[in-house]
Amino acid sequence: LALKILAKRHDIRALLRYPPAEGWSHHRLDGVQWINTMGLKAEPESVVLAAGAQQGLSLILSAMTKPGDLIMTEALTYPGVKAIAEFLNLKILGIAMDQEGILPEDLEAVCRRRKAKVLFCMPDLHNPTSVILSLKRREALASLARRYDLLIIEDAIHRPFLDDPLPTLAQLAPEHTFFLASVSKSVAAGLRIAFILAPALNLGRLRQAVAALTLYSSSLPFEIFSFWIEHGIVESTIRERKSEIEKRNKLTRKILAKQMLQTHPRSNFLWLTLPPEMKCSRFTLDAYRSGVIVSPADVFAVDDKQCPEAVRICPGAAQDQAVLQKGLKIIEGILAGKKIISAETV
Ligand SMILES: Cc1ncc(COP(=O)(O)O)c(C=O)c1O
Repeated sequence: LALKILAKRHDIRALLRYPPAEGWSHHRLDGVQWINTMGLKAEPESVVLAAGAQQGLSLILSAMTKPGDLIMTEALTYPGVKAIAEFLNLKILGIAMDQEGILPEDLEAVCRRRKAKVLFCMPDLHNPTSVILSLKRREALASLARRYDLLIIEDAIHRPFLDDPLPTLAQLAPEHTFFLASVSKSVAAGLRIAFILAPALNLGRLRQAVAALTLYSSSLPFEIFSFWIEHGIVESTIRERKSEIEKRNKLTRKILAKQMLQTHPRSNFLWLTLPPEMKCSRFTLDAYRSGVIVSPADVFAVDDKQCPEAVRICPGAAQDQAVLQKGLKIIEGILAGKKIISAETV
């Protein structure tokens, strides 16, 4: 179907050639529209196309750092950034966070002591805790970025799920912030597309990285996205996903009502702090043996020594709500100390 659509669109021959260095202008305009629905006012000249947030992140980090540099993240972070840091030989340091997000005083203490260049963070529906960075903290981070000449990479992958989001860091400190806007969670991960809104001063360097490391993103997925925008498919998909997330999140909270859960009604995941005697590695293994996959805290912890005994539950990963319910009942059983009857023990 996608190929049929593409065959009829614009000049398909042009799309099959190498795209211009900055991407086709109508794709960048889609990026502007996508970014602007999240409350920003992007200009097409500042939008760079990437094959997903992971590629966008590796391009930004390749462009803005060199081996040995120190980057900072929330103490628990998206595992993909840990993987890139390892690959690019970057040091990575976790900044303490609480229910309101990253602690600006901890960030400032690190900036004073060490030569840190970049902060990667997820202010909206932080992965894995679902925390939303408070307005006060956003303002504090923006002012620290200016004071310490820090570059921020703001990962907004879950922002489309929020109805009245707070201002982005890119709005509060535009000259210091790369705004990373993937469509993976809210529209379709398989398209592999994301838009980067880059600070004017760093745009050239980012473009060099795009040219050197990718020779540009494929135009075809961007064209499908374009078609979906035009036909209201992007909007309706987000609406459906929001509603499905709400239902699954609610079901999870209901079944695990007695547990210590941290989440948001519009979050794809719930952060479960385990009862005092339980270890997350053991719990993850027991769940796996019973057919349920959860992500243990060490996957997200930047510092193994400061890893909480918690796991992330991702209700969206279940095939449907019936499967989710079954999986949650298994989790409930393990938490209640039920014995695991696994393929290995039977
Ligand atoms: C917070 C976060 N950022 C980025 C990514 C990667 O996104 P993409 O599929 O656009 O590469 C993920 C994927 O799970 C994620 O959770």
